[in-house]
Amino acid sequence: MKKMTLDKILQSQGFGTRKACQQMIADGKVSLSGEVVTEFSNYFQPEALVLSVDGRPWACREYVYLAMNKPAGYECSRKPSHHPGVLSLLLEPFILRNTQPVGRLDHDTTGMLLLSDDGTFIHRQSSPKHHVPKTYVATTHDPVTPQLVAQLLSGVKLADEPDMLAALACEQLDTHRLRIVLDQGKYHQVKRMLVAAGHHCDGLARTAIGRLALDDLGLKPGEWCFLDEAQCALLAPLA
Ligand code: URA
Repeated sequence: MKKMTLDKILQSQGFGTRKACQQMIADGKVSLSGEVVTEFSNYFQPEALVLSVDGRPWACREYVYLAMNKPAGYECSRKPSHHPGVLSLLLEPFILRNTQPVGRLDHDTTGMLLLSDDGTFIHRQSSPKHHVPKTYVATTHDPVTPQLVAQLLSGVKLADEPDMLAALACEQLDTHRLRIVLDQGKYHQVKRMLVAAGHHCDGLARTAIGRLALDDLGLKPGEWCFLDEAQCALLAPLA
């Protein structure tokens, strides 16, 4: 990030309009290295600041890259209609800086969801040309059979899809659960593939995106964390 005055830095981080940020500073809500600051004409390097806003430490970032353990019963839409939205689980400044889900999970699907305010990252991750494998654990209504696994691996035909769609990998985990890896992101793809193979999906969780596994992040349902550069690098397509 380039050097900026404190009010502009706060604005860039999602604390409101420049005027609102100037008011926060004037009200003594902002401190640098533990000292309240009440003027904003000096220029600072944002990433170097030890900043607190309303007593909450805040590390300045040009863009945010977040992973959430999405709970069931939340919609990924920015304007949710039937359930609360995943954005309601984030801090307000992230919403003001236009952080959005990268792709979507169904309201009843749980697990790993990426969120960011970096348009280039969102576009790359969501592009069908960028084949990032996504791993899901599906719970089936009827017992998993070797035929089901074989069918998902060889490909099934979905209505309105011209080509057969096949899993990149698929394995049975126990009587009613299978792990399936897909590198396309069609609408309701896992559930529809199961239906096309004569099964019904009773539950779905996304456990990894690329080589980044949800289990390694230690997030409880509804929790989120920042992803660092090394973690973002694991979201790339397999070489
Ligand atoms: N496939 C589905 O059917 N639903 C999801 O939420 C994700 C993948």
